[in-house]
Amino acid sequence: MSEHETPALDELVIGILGGTGPQGRGLARRFAMAGHQVIIGSRNHDRAYGVAREIGHDVRGLVNRDTARESSLVIAAVPWEGHAELLADLATELAGKIVVDCVNPLGFDQRGAYRLPIPEGSAAEQAAALLPSSRVVAAFHHVSAVLLLDSQVDSLDQDVLVLGDDRYATDLVQALAGRIPGVRGIYAGRLRNCGQIEALTANLVSINRRYKAHAGLRVTDI
Ligand SMILES: NC(=O)c1ccc[n+]([C@@H]2O[C@H](COP(=O)([O-])OP(=O)(O)OC[C@H]3O[C@@H](n4cnc5c(N)ncnc54)[C@H](OP(=O)(O)O)[C@@H]3O)[C@@H](O)[C@H]2O)c1
Repeated sequence: MSEHETPALDELVIGILGGTGPQGRGLARRFAMAGHQVIIGSRNHDRAYGVAREIGHDVRGLVNRDTARESSLVIAAVPWEGHAELLADLATELAGKIVVDCVNPLGFDQRGAYRLPIPEGSAAEQAAALLPSSRVVAAFHHVSAVLLLDSQVDSLDQDVLVLGDDRYATDLVQALAGRIPGVRGIYAGRLRNCGQIEALTANLVSINRRYKAHAGLRVTDI
């Protein structure tokens, strides 16, 4: 896609599918605090409305379909289990839009978190396969919802790895990540290399458990 088809950062309307969960609420809060228009999406209108009111900053709450329709950039923040069905159902509303996938397909057992096998290679590649008319970008996999939601945390001190096959879309999402204080958006390759980015979250879960932390990543020498 071309530069002129890419919305300007300051004019984005950011919709968050599954925005009632901790990750969606956390991202919504930080983007709204940065002055962006944000819509919380949910399967249930009242839940979306209630969470949006709780966040404040003029955040709105709608059902997922209306969120997709009214937004110029849509973040998928649903559990892996609901990912394919929801995106396939919203393909029409998401056509032509930037869809940011932050889904980590992980399993959990008594030994901790582990990567799940994904036929498409990653959740983001599954999104791209289901949404051939959207511009799929992968980002925000390693940002802790706890830190995003913590009113005592002014700055997050971490990089957000941004992957995708559309240069204008990844540039925009890098800039959007940079609206969260302390965060840099770093281009980290094409969608075909997203599997290990999503799976790395299992390692971060292990780090967090061992060190009682909310670990994030920093890339050096750039
Ligand atoms: N939590 C984190 O720190 C973190 C960090 C990085 C990435 N992520 C990724 O972000 C995504 C969301 O994480 P989360 O912790 O916020 O998840 P979550 O609380 O389990 O789910 C988020 C929301 O998704 C909706 N949902 C649940 N099951 C669904 C289904 N089957 N179909 C459609 N919608 C469904 C629910 O909203 P409604 O009931 O209101 O529709 C729920 O509030 C996950 O894929 C996770 O891997 C999370």
